[in-house]
Amino acid sequence: MRTTYSPHPPIRQIIAERVSRRGFLLGSATGLGAVAAQGFVGSLFSGEALAQDVSSSLGFTELKRVYDDKHHVADGYKAEAVVAWGDPMQASQEAFDVAKLDAAAQAERFGYNCDFVAFMPLPKGSSNSDNGLLCVNNEYVSANVMFENLKEDGMGAAMTKEQVALCNMAVGHSIIEIKREGGVWKTVAGSAMNRRLTLESEFAISGPCAGHDLMKTSYDSEGRMVRGTNYNCGGGTTPWATVLTCEEGASDTFGGDIAKSPFAAVLERYGYDGSDYYGRARFDDRFNVEKEPNEANRFDWVVEIDPYDPTSTPVKRTALGRMAHEAATVVLNKDGKVVVYMGDDDYFEYMYRFVSSAAFDPANLETGRNILDEGVLSVAKVNADGTMNWLPLVHGQGPLTADKGFASQADVLLKTRLAADALGATPMDRPEDIETNPVTGRVYAVMTKNKKISADKLNPVNTRPENNTGHIVELIPPGGAGKDADHTAATYTWDLFVLAGNPKDPKHGAKFHPATSEDGWFVNPDNLTFDPKGRMFVATDGANDFDLPDGIYGVDTEGPARGLPKLLFTSPHGAEATGPCFTPDGTTLFVSVQHPAEDAETLDKVQTRWPDFKGNNIPRPAVVAIQRTDGKEVGA
Ligand code: FEO
Ligand code: CA
Ligand code: CA
Ligand code: CA
Repeated sequence: MRTTYSPHPPIRQIIAERVSRRGFLLGSATGLGAVAAQGFVGSLFSGEALAQDVSSSLGFTELKRVYDDKHHVADGYKAEAVVAWGDPMQASQEAFDVAKLDAAAQAERFGYNCDFVAFMPLPKGSSNSDNGLLCVNNEYVSANVMFENLKEDGMGAAMTKEQVALCNMAVGHSIIEIKREGGVWKTVAGSAMNRRLTLESEFAISGPCAGHDLMKTSYDSEGRMVRGTNYNCGGGTTPWATVLTCEEGASDTFGGDIAKSPFAAVLERYGYDGSDYYGRARFDDRFNVEKEPNEANRFDWVVEIDPYDPTSTPVKRTALGRMAHEAATVVLNKDGKVVVYMGDDDYFEYMYRFVSSAAFDPANLETGRNILDEGVLSVAKVNADGTMNWLPLVHGQGPLTADKGFASQADVLLKTRLAADALGATPMDRPEDIETNPVTGRVYAVMTKNKKISADKLNPVNTRPENNTGHIVELIPPGGAGKDADHTAATYTWDLFVLAGNPKDPKHGAKFHPATSEDGWFVNPDNLTFDPKGRMFVATDGANDFDLPDGIYGVDTEGPARGLPKLLFTSPHGAEATGPCFTPDGTTLFVSVQHPAEDAETLDKVQTRWPDFKGNNIPRPAVVAIQRTDGKEVGA
């Protein structure tokens, strides 16, 4: 068990770090730059990549980086808001008016702080790129810029019952039909497929923890039905046309004295501190760990949604483990096994992989229905010799036995982080997205940053002390490229893809392709997607701390321009860019612009009223569609 690392902060602390400039230093105070860890060092920019005259395969003229109140996109492209917080989802609803918004209205309107985006074509099973369901996570609320006179400090105690109820309806997930006509994406208000999932919706529990005593509450004596989903951050889609939404840690939703909980040690390991940051425990006992001790066990899972059936009950799939889930990227292995890659987004947390027991048959989508309920969850151990191992979190194996504190497989999953500690997994610099390149079969894991990592805590794959800028790791399954890659293998090799930061600032210790421009380097990678040609698109979260906009960068992963980023899009003041998602034809790249203006202390001090700007309008998170003005593929 590890004891040397700092306690894990709740996610709101991570958010607070982003919005607070206080005490932030560019690079470390001690001036430490990149330190090559002992042992294996990735083959960053050796050999052919050092040739200076290479250019990216991405055909756009790079955007000039400007940090202001607007979004910007490269010449020859347009970026238009498709749907924003509070937009109507029903035909009878009027346009957004914050003065008329209450919890009941919010329950039927687009949610706040959009994050992961999935475009699910209509009809189901087609690759239609002009009509589909936009399935969007609504991660959390920035209440300080939603309501008048509400400061972030002490927000939970100050919010009214009505404000808390509205916020509970603004989080979760939004499904809305969209259509492209004449090159413009429009929502279809009133579509029978439109749906909101909130902190009040019903979710089934499946997998090893379903029905377990630790999942039972006064609301649900069977341990099989949860009210609500929360902190829906990253996600994924499945070959059977469902959406996976990741609960990224509900720790700050809960109030009460954690020390009085029978699970105090586990809650502490998951960052729970009873802060009740959004005031929820003041109005609902289920969020008080003293009154409803098991409720916290029912969050921090991956949830599966069937967007094509608006009457279906989404399912929390406990076999995928309990953590601050960022990503759930699904790969169909060549033997039909379903593989899910997941990051646990917190300081010194781990990378995970799930492999299904059964094989999926693409000719029969029904074979996917409950396939995520049985399989082996593993955690990554990264070795200095350039290999990495997936260590199975299986009850009865190694230290995961009853006498070591793990009573059953359900117990292992409820305490996933502790089980991974026991196996000696490799602590990472806050693992966010993990995605696969569909062309090469290689897997990319994003470490967004880790200011807490000191020189004595470095390891072969996290090589910079006080890593404020993040990096991207390449995981290489054996077996060959593309569909030949074996995503079920116990051992992979790995490499460092890029070390983010300013290449001209020695304190950052950044490593990109040497031809990277002044506008092309980035900090704090968070989410990734790939275009149909296998080029990577990186979304960043954290650049504002460097007086830079967050944005979208296209990067080659193969060839002489490997690791050479180019800036395509930037978000407005205070916003991260997240949830990048292509239409099947690659002509539209959807991006969530999350928490614009969130860094303002109060609503009257916001630095942007994006995207409406009209009069005194309120800033609104929104999903943007990036397209070439000539309609060709993005990056063509
Ligand atoms: Fe919600 Fe890990 O970002
Ligand atoms: Ca976020
Ligand atoms: Ca994220
Ligand atoms: Ca993030």
